[in-house]
Amino acid sequence: MRAIYGMVAVLAVIGFAAAGCGGKAPSKGTGGAPITPGPQAIAEAKEIYTTRCFTCHGMQGKGDGPGSAGLTPQPRDLTLESWQASVTDEHIEKIIKFGGSAVGKSPMMPPNPDLVAKPEVVAALRVQVREFAGK
Ligand code: HEC
Repeated sequence: MRAIYGMVAVLAVIGFAAAGCGGKAPSKGTGGAPITPGPQAIAEAKEIYTTRCFTCHGMQGKGDGPGSAGLTPQPRDLTLESWQASVTDEHIEKIIKFGGSAVGKSPMMPPNPDLVAKPEVVAALRVQVREFAGK
């Protein structure tokens, strides 16, 4: 009996070590590492984008939503690869949570305080912003 427990323990350790060596371990969102959102967070983010963000940013992220007309500066074209390359994931998540003024941008980019407690949804919105690249 004790031998079996021993075996299980050894296998568990080997499995753990193998997982650790397999490249990137799934991120837990600690230490500033980006979170990988699950399907539920992705669905919630889509809902939020199509009800809040699209009004300024447009459904395709081109900055041509119905509410963008009177804005100066205009919401930028999120599909631009050069812009995508110039910002970090952290920057995108910060502007979504705390608004433009938190990152030295236009205060017309509103904060979303309700999302501060939902890091996975913020991560999913960031993924969505990233997916506009090159579209
Ligand atoms: C009321 C209009 C408005 C809404 C709603 C809005 N934004 Fe913005 N957003 C802006 C404007 C204007 C800027 C440009 C700020 C600047 O360049 O100074 C911007 C900028 C951004 C940027 C680019 C930041 C950068 O560094 O250039 C991202 C990413 C972004 N918004 C994401 C979102 C997301 C995601 C949502 C929905 C949760 C959202 N925005 C809702 C107006 C809006």
